[in-house]
Amino acid sequence: GMFLPDDPRDRSDLRKLRAAAADCRGCDLYRDATRTVFGEGEPGGRVVLVGEQPGDQEDRRGAPFVGPAGRVLDRALEEAGIERGDVYVTNAVKHFKFTRVAGGKRRIHQPPNAGEMRACRPWLLAELRILEPDVVVSLGATAGKALLGSSFRVTKQRGRLMPLPDLETIGTPAAAREIADGPAERADTRLLATIHPSAVLRAEDRDDVYAGLLDDLRIVATALG
Ligand code: URA
Repeated sequence: GMFLPDDPRDRSDLRKLRAAAADCRGCDLYRDATRTVFGEGEPGGRVVLVGEQPGDQEDRRGAPFVGPAGRVLDRALEEAGIERGDVYVTNAVKHFKFTRVAGGKRRIHQPPNAGEMRACRPWLLAELRILEPDVVVSLGATAGKALLGSSFRVTKQRGRLMPLPDLETIGTPAAAREIADGPAERADTRLLATIHPSAVLRAEDRDDVYAGLLDDLRIVATALG
């Protein structure tokens, strides 16, 4: 069965949650991945960053955002003035999904599908319940959809503070309706969507794409005060 914390405000539950997630069989991704890569960071952190899923290096090392995308993210956080102690980093899906080119050793990242995102959602919700952050930042399309449902579009919704939808509705069409015209100022937890840091690495105009990521993270830094 899936572990859910009794008292959402008990931060020690984060450790129990991580231990339970290590044995998750909620979808088939555990079969090929090395391990569950759970969220990491300060339990008292006011910001939760949500990525897509662990990559090759994260799968090997067991920690989120420790590969190339993580280095872009670290640099942008520092430049935006968001302190490490304020940040908890996690992913929408907690196992690495990949394919191999026939006979090759290289593991090529595959985006998680809707069923895998749904299967993994309870872990993300449980993290958010325990952490009670001031701001949640979704990195890229998968994380945005995991929180706001399949109608989410990074290009349309990035770069502004929105109210985080009710945790009961997260990842469903109701979440998208909730944030459509909700005033972010009054929300206990706010949501800011931005691009995935790996988009910087893929882009031809890296500097511009990076500058956009930085602009978005500066909005988060300002919101934290
Ligand atoms: N990309 C992600 O979305 N998450 C990670 O943890 C690493 C790379």
